[in-house]
Amino acid sequence: MKNIFVEEFVNDNGRQPTVSITTFGCQMNEHDSEILMGLLSERGYKQTEDRKIADVAILNTCSVRENADKRFFGTLGQLKKIKEKNPSFVTCVCGCMMQQQHIIDKLKSSYPWVDVIVGTHNIDKLPNLLDNLIDEKKRQIEILPEAKEIIEDLPSERLFKHKALVNIMFGCNNFCTYCIVPYTRGRERSRNPKNILKEIEKLVSGGVVEVMLLGQNVNSYRGECDGEVWKFPRLLEEINKIEGLQRIRFMTSHPKDMSDNLIKAYGKLDKLSKYVHLPVQSGSNNVLKKMNRRYKVEDYITLINKLRTEVPEITISTDIIVGFPGETEDDFLETLKLVESVRYDSAFTFLYSVRKDTPAEKFKDQVDEEIKHERFNRLVELVNNISAEKNSEYVGNVYKVLVDGYSKTDATVLSGRTDGFKLVNFRVDSDASDLIGKIVDVKITNAKTFSLEGELFLG
Ligand code: 5AD
Ligand code: SF4
Repeated sequence: MKNIFVEEFVNDNGRQPTVSITTFGCQMNEHDSEILMGLLSERGYKQTEDRKIADVAILNTCSVRENADKRFFGTLGQLKKIKEKNPSFVTCVCGCMMQQQHIIDKLKSSYPWVDVIVGTHNIDKLPNLLDNLIDEKKRQIEILPEAKEIIEDLPSERLFKHKALVNIMFGCNNFCTYCIVPYTRGRERSRNPKNILKEIEKLVSGGVVEVMLLGQNVNSYRGECDGEVWKFPRLLEEINKIEGLQRIRFMTSHPKDMSDNLIKAYGKLDKLSKYVHLPVQSGSNNVLKKMNRRYKVEDYITLINKLRTEVPEITISTDIIVGFPGETEDDFLETLKLVESVRYDSAFTFLYSVRKDTPAEKFKDQVDEEIKHERFNRLVELVNNISAEKNSEYVGNVYKVLVDGYSKTDATVLSGRTDGFKLVNFRVDSDASDLIGKIVDVKITNAKTFSLEGELFLG
């Protein structure tokens, strides 16, 4: 393995180069960043949190909504100032935005000082591109239009010792009309199930107790293995058998592919968290049709009922888009009605954001910004009221909480998640770092809209 960048850097500076990765967007991107950091650590780069003092700064971008685009260009502006003061500062950009031609054109014409540009399908090449940058003394751009074969056994530098993100599939075939993901992440590709099991076994032997299985649409997982096809429930069943693993989560499900077998898995598999994130996007059949979601509100409600029959205590979250082109007040009222009837534990609400080159960009009847915001506020108020009411039902009871670490704002408070993914904060009197990564009993004493508060319950 050539390692020109690090070797030259050490020669010139007498120390190893530091690298910071700033991640925008979803857990897929977070996981890509973990892999990038793993690859760079192997070559001798040292991680630093602060991109302002790093020798190499990497921005891993998201393009799902306009806001993420704006934040990227804002951050790039900060990097430019650093580069002006320190020309040897190296900047790299990668991730979803790099799969869009208009972004590449803009970077080429207006950001000539960006050193390395790499797309989603070959982020593993970034360390080589850093070497080429030194070798060839010119900027490196490598974007592949499509994915190649899945690369296995990439290292990863994780944020938590006790929990891990595990990709089970890549890409998306659904082409919801508002969404850029099928264009930036390509077609669906499932990993070989044996490789997934091997990876999780290795993680567990290294101390991991919870895995989050990642895919844009995990319900359509189809992993080929020894001439057989494994669907998602079969994969879950096998993961559930791994000794030492305690919790399995997954993200994200598409309602159109949620099978009865998967719903039954919740009842059967003891390690599968009793939590589902099931994006509905809208409560109006007219809007769902124009979004190309391929289910009706009635189908969605049937799914929720089946899930709650199988597992009465299941917690449910969703994604909702407000102000999709053509959404009328009546359509929006149907969304409110759906939210009232499902009573989500939490809902991620988004203002519709026009994405270049998606079908919805060309829809004529875009909703006025003011109306969008007004509807958004009404939806958020309802969603939050319901979340707070649902959370208040937890008070007085004891739950198993996997402790993630100390709260960022208070060093006497530990923070973790229930099996149903509720965030729980609880105060500890003395040093309790040994509890991090353990599942402990917490008695809930107070409920807030987005979290619960409690105290350690010693029985
Ligand atoms: N505008 C607003 N929200 C969007 N999402 C995806 N594309 C858009 C868009 N163009 C939301 C969807 C999806 C979540 C990850 O992001 O709700 O489920
Ligand atoms: Fe985007 Fe729809 Fe695919 Fe989700 S299912 S990534 S919303 S196209």
